[in-house]
Amino acid sequence: MKIAAIAGSLTPLSKTLLTVKETVNHIKKSHPEIEVNVIDLKKYQLTFCDGRDPSEYQGDSKRLIEEIVQADALIVGTPIYRGSIPGALKNVFDLIPNTALKGKVLAFIATGGTYHHYLAIEHQLKPLAGYFKAYTLPGNVYAHNEHFENKQLADETIKERLHQLADSVVTFSKQINGNVIGADQPVIPRQSLAQT
Ligand SMILES: Cc1cc2nc3c(=O)[nH]c(=O)nc-3n(C[C@H](O)[C@H](O)[C@H](O)COP(=O)(O)O)c2cc1C
Repeated sequence: MKIAAIAGSLTPLSKTLLTVKETVNHIKKSHPEIEVNVIDLKKYQLTFCDGRDPSEYQGDSKRLIEEIVQADALIVGTPIYRGSIPGALKNVFDLIPNTALKGKVLAFIATGGTYHHYLAIEHQLKPLAGYFKAYTLPGNVYAHNEHFENKQLADETIKERLHQLADSVVTFSKQINGNVIGADQPVIPRQSLAQT
């Protein structure tokens, strides 16, 4: 099984990246049979989605799309920007094919300045999973500034919860095994006039 873990912040010393790495390191330690890799978004020079077919992107955009398509499950770490996710991360969800996450398990981690926007996971991220017909873990992790000290993730409760999230995404994904249940969704066209 392959898990891709996106760290959706472009800042140089990212709190989100620290939480994603804590999660990924736990998977590596506790589930050595799982292939897990971090997609650190600031290392990718992405094209803005312009409506073309996802197979036509090149370079880092192509690499990113392939890594997500090939993953069996996804961990998505995001900073909260304006009560939502940053445009850079939204672009990832615009670039990937409509079927890229179908039947896959998605686990969400968010970091914010305070607890003010912890429900952004419910209101901003889970609807994206719904669009893609993905399964979401019922439990998420939200960390804020007070959970970090000396440029490190310091809060033991948050670490423990990230480990639980890591274990859960592995267990749930194995149980689901890529099976899609529920009514079929209507096909949502992404064809632009230029392609007709
Ligand atoms: C443009 C911008 C908008 C932000 N908006 C919010 C916000 O709406 N709510 C919040 O709690 N924190 C907000 N923050 C704070 C970040 O979410 C917080 O510092 C986060 O941990 C940054 O993650 P990073 O270190 O991975 O980049 C914002 C930060 C920036 C730069």
